[in-house]
Amino acid sequence: MGLENQVALVTGAASEIGQAYVKNLLKNRVKVLLCDECVEKCHAIVSEFEKEFQKINVLSIKCDVTNEEEFENVFKTCMKYFGRLDIVINNAGVFDESIVRWSSVVNINYGGVVRGTLLAIKYMGIPNGGIGGTVIQTTSFLVFGGCFSNTPLYKSTKKYITDFTKRLGGKRQFGLHGVKLITLCPGFTGTKFPETLNQIESVNDSVEHVEDNHGSNNQMILQDSENVGNALIIILEQGKNGETWIVEDNKPPRLVEY
Ligand SMILES: NC(=O)c1ccc[n+]([C@@H]2O[C@H](COP(=O)([O-])OP(=O)(O)OC[C@H]3O[C@@H](n4cnc5c(N)ncnc54)[C@H](O)[C@@H]3O)[C@@H](O)[C@H]2O)c1
Repeated sequence: MGLENQVALVTGAASEIGQAYVKNLLKNRVKVLLCDECVEKCHAIVSEFEKEFQKINVLSIKCDVTNEEEFENVFKTCMKYFGRLDIVINNAGVFDESIVRWSSVVNINYGGVVRGTLLAIKYMGIPNGGIGGTVIQTTSFLVFGGCFSNTPLYKSTKKYITDFTKRLGGKRQFGLHGVKLITLCPGFTGTKFPETLNQIESVNDSVEHVEDNHGSNNQMILQDSENVGNALIIILEQGKNGETWIVEDNKPPRLVEY
Protein backbone atom coordinates (compact mmCIF):
# COMPACT_ATOMS: atom_id res chain seq x y z
CA MET A 1 0.00 0.00 0.00
CA GLY A 2 1.37 3.44 -0.91
CA LEU A 3 1.72 6.27 1.58
CA GLU A 4 -0.91 8.47 -0.02
CA ASN A 5 -3.75 9.42 2.34
CA GLN A 6 -2.12 7.77 5.31
CA VAL A 7 -1.92 9.71 8.58
CA ALA A 8 1.27 10.24 10.60
CA LEU A 9 1.93 11.56 14.08
CA VAL A 10 5.39 13.10 14.70
CA THR A 11 6.71 13.91 18.20
CA GLY A 12 9.39 16.56 18.70
CA ALA A 13 8.11 17.92 15.39
CA ALA A 14 9.51 21.41 16.03
CA SER A 15 13.07 20.04 15.78
CA GLU A 16 15.10 20.27 12.58
CA ILE A 17 14.81 16.55 11.89
CA GLY A 18 11.13 16.61 12.92
CA GLN A 19 10.38 19.36 10.41
CA ALA A 20 12.19 17.46 7.67
CA TYR A 21 10.10 14.37 8.46
CA VAL A 22 6.88 16.40 8.32
CA LYS A 23 7.80 18.09 5.04
CA ASN A 24 8.66 14.82 3.32
CA LEU A 25 5.52 13.11 4.62
CA LEU A 26 3.36 15.97 3.32
CA LYS A 27 5.19 15.88 -0.03
CA ASN A 28 4.20 12.21 -0.23
CA ARG A 29 0.55 13.10 0.48
CA VAL A 30 0.55 11.84 4.04
CA LYS A 31 -1.55 13.91 6.46
CA VAL A 32 0.44 14.89 9.54
CA LEU A 33 -0.22 15.69 13.19
CA LEU A 34 2.79 17.56 14.61
CA CYS A 35 3.34 17.62 18.35
CA ASP A 36 6.05 19.06 20.53
CA GLU A 37 6.52 20.43 24.02
CA CYS A 38 7.24 23.74 22.32
CA VAL A 39 3.82 24.13 20.71
CA GLU A 40 4.29 27.73 19.58
CA LYS A 41 7.09 26.64 17.28
CA CYS A 42 4.90 23.80 16.00
CA HIS A 43 2.03 26.18 15.23
CA ALA A 44 4.43 28.46 13.31
CA ILE A 45 5.71 25.50 11.26
CA VAL A 46 2.14 24.42 10.51
CA SER A 47 1.22 27.93 9.30
CA GLU A 48 4.06 27.69 6.78
CA PHE A 49 3.20 24.14 5.65
CA GLU A 50 -0.50 25.00 5.33
CA LYS A 51 0.36 27.39 2.49
CA GLU A 52 1.97 24.63 0.46
CA PHE A 53 0.03 21.55 1.52
CA GLN A 54 -3.47 22.79 2.48
CA LYS A 55 -4.79 23.37 5.98
CA ILE A 56 -6.80 20.17 6.08
CA ASN A 57 -3.69 17.98 5.85
CA VAL A 58 -1.71 19.29 8.80
CA LEU A 59 -2.41 20.00 12.46
CA SER A 60 -0.32 20.78 15.56
CA ILE A 61 -0.90 20.15 19.24
CA LYS A 62 1.15 20.44 22.44
CA CYS A 63 2.67 17.26 23.77
CA ASP A 64 5.22 16.67 26.46
CA VAL A 65 6.14 13.02 25.84
CA THR A 66 6.74 12.50 29.57
CA ASN A 67 3.09 13.30 30.29
CA GLU A 68 1.03 10.15 29.76
CA GLU A 69 -2.35 11.89 29.62
CA GLU A 70 -1.18 14.64 27.27
CA PHE A 71 0.47 12.07 25.01
CA GLU A 72 -2.66 9.92 24.79
CA ASN A 73 -4.68 13.03 24.02
CA VAL A 74 -2.57 13.48 20.87
CA PHE A 75 -3.62 10.03 19.66
CA LYS A 76 -7.27 10.78 20.47
CA THR A 77 -7.07 14.11 18.62
CA CYS A 78 -5.53 12.40 15.61
CA MET A 79 -8.34 9.84 15.41
CA LYS A 80 -10.95 12.56 15.87
CA TYR A 81 -9.48 15.01 13.33
CA PHE A 82 -8.12 12.67 10.64
CA GLY A 83 -10.20 9.55 11.41
CA ARG A 84 -7.22 7.19 11.26
CA LEU A 85 -3.57 6.70 12.19
CA ASP A 86 -0.98 4.73 10.19
CA ILE A 87 2.47 6.01 11.16
CA VAL A 88 3.96 7.14 14.48
CA ILE A 89 7.39 8.80 14.49
CA ASN A 90 8.92 8.90 17.96
CA ASN A 91 11.40 11.72 17.42
CA ALA A 92 11.43 13.91 20.57
CA GLY A 93 14.80 13.67 22.28
CA VAL A 94 17.37 15.75 24.14
CA PHE A 95 21.15 15.74 23.91
CA ASP A 96 21.84 16.53 27.56
CA GLU A 97 24.51 15.06 29.81
CA SER A 98 23.68 17.09 32.91
CA ILE A 99 23.84 14.80 35.92
CA VAL A 100 21.20 16.78 37.82
CA ARG A 101 18.71 16.27 34.98
CA TRP A 102 19.44 12.59 34.38
CA SER A 103 15.97 11.32 35.25
CA SER A 104 14.32 13.86 32.98
CA VAL A 105 16.66 12.89 30.11
CA VAL A 106 15.82 9.20 30.58
CA ASN A 107 12.13 10.03 30.84
CA ILE A 108 12.17 11.98 27.56
CA ASN A 109 14.60 9.96 25.46
CA TYR A 110 13.61 6.48 26.57
CA GLY A 111 10.31 6.85 28.47
CA GLY A 112 8.84 9.05 25.73
CA VAL A 113 9.55 6.44 23.09
CA VAL A 114 8.19 3.55 25.18
CA ARG A 115 5.01 5.57 25.85
CA GLY A 116 4.68 6.51 22.18
CA THR A 117 5.19 2.93 21.04
CA LEU A 118 2.69 1.43 23.49
CA LEU A 119 0.13 4.08 22.56
CA ALA A 120 0.79 3.37 18.87
CA ILE A 121 0.04 -0.31 19.46
CA LYS A 122 -3.06 0.63 21.47
CA TYR A 123 -4.41 2.83 18.64
CA MET A 124 -3.13 0.96 15.56
CA GLY A 125 -2.80 -2.62 16.86
CA ILE A 126 -5.03 -5.26 15.30
CA PRO A 127 -6.23 -6.79 18.64
CA ASN A 128 -7.48 -3.33 19.63
CA GLY A 129 -9.53 -2.88 16.48
CA GLY A 130 -6.79 -1.03 14.58
CA ILE A 131 -5.50 -1.79 11.09
CA GLY A 132 -1.79 -2.12 11.93
CA GLY A 133 0.74 0.53 10.99
CA THR A 134 4.37 1.56 11.38
CA VAL A 135 6.36 3.07 14.24
CA ILE A 136 9.70 4.73 13.47
CA GLN A 137 12.05 5.42 16.39
CA THR A 138 14.67 8.13 15.93
CA THR A 139 17.74 6.90 17.79
CA SER A 140 21.31 7.76 16.74
CA PHE A 141 24.33 6.31 14.97
CA LEU A 142 26.01 6.66 18.38
CA VAL A 143 24.27 3.48 19.54
CA PHE A 144 26.91 1.63 17.56
CA GLY A 145 29.72 2.87 19.81
CA GLY A 146 32.40 4.92 18.11
CA CYS A 147 32.95 8.53 19.13
CA PHE A 148 31.52 10.62 21.99
CA SER A 149 32.38 8.18 24.70
CA ASN A 150 31.60 10.88 27.31
CA THR A 151 27.89 11.02 26.49
CA PRO A 152 26.69 8.09 28.63
CA LEU A 153 23.14 9.34 29.15
CA TYR A 154 22.40 10.16 25.53
CA LYS A 155 24.06 7.06 24.14
CA SER A 156 22.51 4.63 26.59
CA THR A 157 18.98 6.01 26.23
CA LYS A 158 19.24 5.74 22.45
CA LYS A 159 20.63 2.22 22.79
CA TYR A 160 17.76 1.17 25.09
CA ILE A 161 15.27 2.34 22.46
CA THR A 162 17.03 0.36 19.76
CA ASP A 163 16.96 -2.76 21.97
CA PHE A 164 13.34 -2.19 23.02
CA THR A 165 12.33 -1.83 19.36
CA LYS A 166 14.18 -4.98 18.37
CA ARG A 167 12.48 -7.01 21.13
CA LEU A 168 8.96 -5.60 20.77
CA GLY A 169 9.38 -5.76 17.00
CA GLY A 170 10.16 -9.49 17.15
CA LYS A 171 8.35 -11.86 14.82
CA ARG A 172 6.06 -13.24 17.53
CA GLN A 173 5.06 -9.83 18.90
CA PHE A 174 4.48 -8.49 15.40
CA GLY A 175 2.18 -11.45 14.79
CA LEU A 176 0.18 -10.36 17.83
CA HIS A 177 -0.12 -6.58 17.32
CA GLY A 178 0.51 -6.11 13.58
CA VAL A 179 2.45 -2.85 14.03
CA LYS A 180 5.85 -2.65 12.27
CA LEU A 181 8.57 -1.26 14.56
CA ILE A 182 11.67 0.16 12.84
CA THR A 183 14.67 2.11 14.13
CA LEU A 184 16.21 5.00 12.19
CA CYS A 185 19.67 6.10 13.36
CA PRO A 186 20.73 9.50 11.99
CA GLY A 187 24.38 10.56 11.85
CA PHE A 188 25.37 14.17 12.70
CA THR A 189 22.55 16.30 11.35
CA GLY A 190 21.41 19.89 11.02
CA THR A 191 22.62 23.37 11.61
CA LYS A 192 22.28 23.29 15.41
CA PHE A 193 24.54 20.34 16.03
CA PRO A 194 27.89 22.18 16.36
CA GLU A 195 26.22 24.46 18.95
CA THR A 196 25.03 21.40 20.85
CA LEU A 197 28.51 19.94 20.87
CA ASN A 198 29.85 23.01 22.63
CA GLN A 199 27.52 22.24 25.51
CA ILE A 200 29.22 18.93 26.11
CA GLU A 201 32.38 19.20 28.18
CA SER A 202 35.70 18.01 26.81
CA VAL A 203 34.39 17.53 23.32
CA ASN A 204 37.84 16.99 21.94
CA ASP A 205 38.46 14.22 24.45
CA SER A 206 35.28 12.52 23.43
CA VAL A 207 35.96 12.43 19.71
CA GLU A 208 37.74 9.16 19.73
CA HIS A 209 37.19 5.96 17.84
CA VAL A 210 36.50 3.12 20.21
CA GLU A 211 34.55 -0.14 20.28
CA ASP A 212 33.00 -1.78 17.25
CA ASN A 213 30.74 0.36 15.13
CA HIS A 214 28.54 -2.12 13.27
CA GLY A 215 28.98 -0.27 10.02
CA SER A 216 28.58 3.36 11.04
CA ASN A 217 31.63 5.29 9.91
CA ASN A 218 31.53 7.64 12.94
CA GLN A 219 32.99 10.48 10.90
CA MET A 220 32.09 14.07 11.82
CA ILE A 221 30.27 14.81 8.56
CA LEU A 222 27.28 17.03 9.19
CA GLN A 223 24.35 16.09 6.94
CA ASP A 224 21.27 18.15 6.03
CA SER A 225 18.11 17.32 7.94
CA GLU A 226 16.46 17.01 4.52
CA ASN A 227 18.52 13.86 3.93
CA VAL A 228 16.98 12.30 7.05
CA GLY A 229 13.53 13.40 5.83
CA ASN A 230 14.13 11.67 2.49
CA ALA A 231 15.41 8.59 4.28
CA LEU A 232 12.22 8.35 6.32
CA ILE A 233 10.16 7.91 3.15
CA ILE A 234 12.50 5.23 1.78
CA ILE A 235 12.35 3.37 5.10
CA LEU A 236 8.56 3.64 5.30
CA GLU A 237 8.33 2.21 1.78
CA GLN A 238 10.99 -0.48 2.06
CA GLY A 239 11.58 -1.16 5.77
CA LYS A 240 10.48 -4.34 7.46
CA ASN A 241 9.48 -4.98 11.03
CA GLY A 242 12.36 -5.09 13.55
CA GLU A 243 14.92 -3.51 11.21
CA THR A 244 17.55 -0.91 12.08
CA TRP A 245 18.63 1.66 9.48
CA ILE A 246 21.44 4.23 9.49
CA VAL A 247 21.34 7.50 7.56
CA GLU A 248 24.53 9.54 7.58
CA ASP A 249 26.87 11.67 5.43
CA ASN A 250 24.03 12.92 3.17
CA LYS A 251 23.78 9.44 1.67
CA PRO A 252 20.69 7.24 1.25
CA PRO A 253 19.75 5.12 4.28
CA ARG A 254 21.17 1.65 4.65
CA LEU A 255 20.07 -1.37 6.60
CA VAL A 256 22.39 -2.54 9.39
CA GLU A 257 22.61 -5.65 11.53
CA TYR A 258 21.76 -4.91 15.16
N1 LIG B 1 20.85 16.37 15.20
C1 LIG B 1 21.59 15.28 15.19
O1 LIG B 1 22.77 15.26 14.81
C2 LIG B 1 20.99 13.96 15.63
C3 LIG B 1 21.73 12.79 15.41
C4 LIG B 1 21.17 11.58 15.80
C5 LIG B 1 19.92 11.54 16.38
N2 LIG B 1 19.24 12.71 16.60
C6 LIG B 1 17.92 12.59 17.23
O2 LIG B 1 16.95 13.10 16.34
C7 LIG B 1 15.87 13.71 17.06
C8 LIG B 1 15.68 15.13 16.58
O3 LIG B 1 16.93 15.75 16.65
P1 LIG B 1 17.19 17.30 16.39
O4 LIG B 1 18.66 17.53 16.48
O5 LIG B 1 16.47 17.72 15.17
O6 LIG B 1 16.47 17.81 17.71
P2 LIG B 1 16.51 19.21 18.48
O7 LIG B 1 17.44 19.09 19.60
O8 LIG B 1 16.64 20.30 17.48
O9 LIG B 1 15.02 19.22 19.03
C9 LIG B 1 14.48 18.31 19.94
C10 LIG B 1 12.98 18.55 19.94
O10 LIG B 1 12.39 17.75 20.96
C11 LIG B 1 11.49 18.58 21.67
N3 LIG B 1 11.34 18.08 23.04
C12 LIG B 1 12.25 18.12 24.04
N4 LIG B 1 11.71 17.60 25.16
C13 LIG B 1 10.45 17.21 24.84
C14 LIG B 1 9.40 16.61 25.57
N5 LIG B 1 9.52 16.29 26.88
N6 LIG B 1 8.25 16.35 24.93
C15 LIG B 1 8.09 16.67 23.62
N7 LIG B 1 9.04 17.26 22.88
C16 LIG B 1 10.21 17.53 23.50
C17 LIG B 1 12.07 19.98 21.62
O11 LIG B 1 11.09 20.99 21.87
C18 LIG B 1 12.62 20.02 20.22
O12 LIG B 1 11.66 20.46 19.28
C19 LIG B 1 16.26 13.59 18.54
O13 LIG B 1 15.66 12.46 19.10
C20 LIG B 1 17.77 13.43 18.49
O14 LIG B 1 18.28 12.76 19.61
C21 LIG B 1 19.74 13.91 16.24
